[in-house]
Amino acid sequence: MGSFRFVKFTKGSSTIDNILSSRILIMPGIVIVGAQFGDEGKGKIVDYLSQDADSIVRYQGGANAGHTVVTGNKKFKLHLIPSGAIWGKKCYIGNGVVFDPEEFLEELDTLKKDGITPNISISPLCHVIFDFHKAMDAAEESARKVGTTKKGIGPAYADKISRHGIRMCDFIDDERLMKRLAMEVERKRESLKLYNSEYNDTADSVFKKYSGIAKKIKPFVHHIIGDLNTQLDEGKKVIFEGAQGSLLDVDFGTYPYVTSSSSCSGGACTGTGVPPMKITKCIGIAKAYCTRVGEGPFPTEIHGKTGELIRERGAEYGTTTGRPRRVGWFDAPMVRYSSLVNGFKEIALMKADVLGGMGKIKVCIEYETSEGKVKRFSSATAETAKPIYEEVEGWENPGDWKNAAKKGFQSLPRGLREFVDYIEALIGCKISMLSVGPSREETLVR
Ligand code: GDP
Ligand code: IMO
Ligand code: MG
Repeated sequence: MGSFRFVKFTKGSSTIDNILSSRILIMPGIVIVGAQFGDEGKGKIVDYLSQDADSIVRYQGGANAGHTVVTGNKKFKLHLIPSGAIWGKKCYIGNGVVFDPEEFLEELDTLKKDGITPNISISPLCHVIFDFHKAMDAAEESARKVGTTKKGIGPAYADKISRHGIRMCDFIDDERLMKRLAMEVERKRESLKLYNSEYNDTADSVFKKYSGIAKKIKPFVHHIIGDLNTQLDEGKKVIFEGAQGSLLDVDFGTYPYVTSSSSCSGGACTGTGVPPMKITKCIGIAKAYCTRVGEGPFPTEIHGKTGELIRERGAEYGTTTGRPRRVGWFDAPMVRYSSLVNGFKEIALMKADVLGGMGKIKVCIEYETSEGKVKRFSSATAETAKPIYEEVEGWENPGDWKNAAKKGFQSLPRGLREFVDYIEALIGCKISMLSVGPSREETLVR
């Protein structure tokens, strides 16, 4: 092992202490990942755990994310700013994020109107999204539909990998920005021409628009790698907030119908500069059913009335784009796969309230494939895998979930308790948190 210091953790009474203390020697870095296709409720759980955390860092994605936090009668929709901001915790945006400066300033303004001034540091190494990335995203979508959020995510990551990107450290320095734009904007115009897409900006006009914005961003830019590592070395609790979901990961997801980043737990290291030995734990977030926005294979998708019913009951409309989410049954082979590639052995099971009162519920236990029955999802055969279902008895919802959650697990409807045990046995993971409503109070920790 490396030269880092192990921290002996003393058992505390807070939620995050209870979760972390399941290992004796720990470094308290905890990754929260979506175990399905995104929108599982990561924002809610990151907010829930943030009350006891020291800092929260986003490690990939960009403003394609839409993380909802509900407190009292307020609903916050966060796209770039980590969900820990609502508790006033120290927040970071890591190098793995593709950063849209206009979206960030807008989000900051919205939060300020609600009395929240985030304490946030942005890595100088993250790549910046410009209008031309969004134009490219729209142009590519018109030629080949992935169903992207059109936030410029794919083109910005493509520029990063092909070494045409513009990093934050270049963005906030006028001379460096102009130099980089002079090298890149003409090339963008040529690329957009291939799609017959009108793009008339020049390096000068792009500079004119963005140099003022960059001045507003500059005070937030700090070298965050040292800070994050020191915090972990000192035994502070750092939450790595994943965006999207494991099945949207560029390597492990349903390629090409994926996002362009590493949304799985491995991305937490490459996206922050924190080495893997310092990550203690990963928790998967999964709905009691499954949803997907955009194109691509979805083995357990429900067509027709039942799907519509779940969509309406679960308010399954995109937080970022407002698009109706496709709805399907809980897919155990998918979550087993997700557990494997992320390394989580526990999940938070979300939106159990949505399935209450619906009668019998289906769960996919394995797939029928050309190679016979398989128990685990494979990205390579996702298009043709046929789900095999079991049906379980449902449960009636209690009138007041907040009260039910307060009374504890044993007071929940029997059918729901049995469902939790059943899912745990199917996926081989503990359900350490159960969510029965959008608010903080509608959360049970087991
Ligand atoms: P994220 O992208 O993973 O953070 O998830 P989103 O915020 O995009 O979508 C989750 C939606 O479900 C949000 O509107 C949440 O407020 C809501 N939500 C979270 N947990 C629950 C729950 O247990 N029950 C219900 N009914 N809604 C929930
Ligand atoms: P959160 O963090 C659900 C989907 C898009 C599209 C694909 C590629 O809120 O869970 P992109 O704009 O990233 O190039 O789009 O990924 N997608 C999401 N779906 N939740 C998200 O984020 C998503 N971010 C991207 O719908 O299918
Ligand atoms: Mg979302």
